[in-house]
Amino acid sequence: MDTAVTTPAGPPVGLTLAGCNSSVLYLYGPHTFRLLRGGRLISVVDIDAARAREACALLGAQRWHTDFEQALEDDAVEAAVLATPGWLHEPQTVAAARAGKHVLCEKPMARTVEECDRMIAACEDAGVTLMIAHMKRFHRAFRKVRELIEGGVLGDVFAVRGQWDEPARDLGADGTFRGDPRSLGGQWHDHGAHMSDLACWWLDSPAKRVNGVIRSVGEHMIAAEDFAIATLDHENGAVSCHQTTTQTYRPWYETYEVMGNRGTLLVQATRHTSLSFEPPTLSLYDQTEGHFNARVVDVTPYLGFEIDRETQAANQYLQELEHFCGCVRLGKEPLVTAAMGRHAVEIINAAYLSHFRGAWVDLPLRDSGELADCFRQYRETQRRRRGHS
Ligand SMILES: NC(=O)c1ccc[n+]([C@@H]2O[C@H](COP(=O)([O-])OP(=O)(O)OC[C@H]3O[C@@H](n4cnc5c(N)ncnc54)[C@H](O)[C@@H]3O)[C@@H](O)[C@H]2O)c1
Repeated sequence: MDTAVTTPAGPPVGLTLAGCNSSVLYLYGPHTFRLLRGGRLISVVDIDAARAREACALLGAQRWHTDFEQALEDDAVEAAVLATPGWLHEPQTVAAARAGKHVLCEKPMARTVEECDRMIAACEDAGVTLMIAHMKRFHRAFRKVRELIEGGVLGDVFAVRGQWDEPARDLGADGTFRGDPRSLGGQWHDHGAHMSDLACWWLDSPAKRVNGVIRSVGEHMIAAEDFAIATLDHENGAVSCHQTTTQTYRPWYETYEVMGNRGTLLVQATRHTSLSFEPPTLSLYDQTEGHFNARVVDVTPYLGFEIDRETQAANQYLQELEHFCGCVRLGKEPLVTAAMGRHAVEIINAAYLSHFRGAWVDLPLRDSGELADCFRQYRETQRRRRGHS
């Protein structure tokens, strides 16, 4: 797959941004929309007026709204960036498509495969681009991993192991989507989209069946889980295993291991790759020094000293936005298609269903079935366990 980022062409794409809280303020950061060359922020939207007003000033937008429909009426707006909770992705994508606007939708694409299908249909009918914000595919180090695998450096890759934790033990009580029953999932819904998408992309192979186990450990996590383990059996015979939790005392741990029959690649971030431009170290272990004495080669794509250039090149959110705007302008299919976003949701749904059914779940998943009911029962059990009425 081509990992090159499309160079934007033509006048900048007019953007509206819906949702002005955690992801936008702390991860995209104020600089990203200001550095963007292929697009310009016309407006921001949040139902919380104070947040919308502050984000407007911080991100350098021209105007702010509390109503998404109002932003869509603006002729200067050509595309919507959705950084709202997952339960809004379907209605807001459908509304944007009907207004003739392209969409860059934050992960997970939606809560269920059915919602994804309706989003895809609406965008196809309207002839607008729908891209899913799996920004890890735009991260320099993760692209390097893909290049090494494609180049055959690891030989035949048979496994990917991922662990991505955050020391956020009170998450769920913070008023964000994570503790809200409408999310239809917890930590795996939040991080699983990225982890499973990375594995499918690196292995160049979708999942064919999924196994999952979830737990609510923290006091506040009643709506869904804060600890999850999922195993994906991929179509090409490889396996990927994913672990994620907020119930850790170790700060911001993110690591992946890619295992091939000629080498093992360890990807270790000192801090979440979402939170820092500092690249994760890429250590390549091979057998050059003999069976029990692996040679270790550092293949990390390190940062340079030119801070302005690095702020652009190492910023996966900026690269993703440039790519989206370029695709809109050139009428090209984006690197992360709606079908890829849908597959990540399919995997998330399947892992949950596997936990609730106590068995592997085969893909393709025809429907998300009893998921809403399962989570309703899950919440009741958690409430009882904690003595809530
Ligand atoms: N790619 C990443 O690195 C990354 C990181 C974090 C979150 N996310 C994703 O981004 C999305 C938002 O996450 P977050 O952490 O910013 O959530 P959040 O709960 O912190 O913020 C969501 C914001 O949306 C606003 N909102 C609610 N309803 C709205 C509506 N109808 N119209 C406009 N705004 C509305 C809320 O008031 C809030 O300010 C989620 O899909 C999440 O999975 C992505």
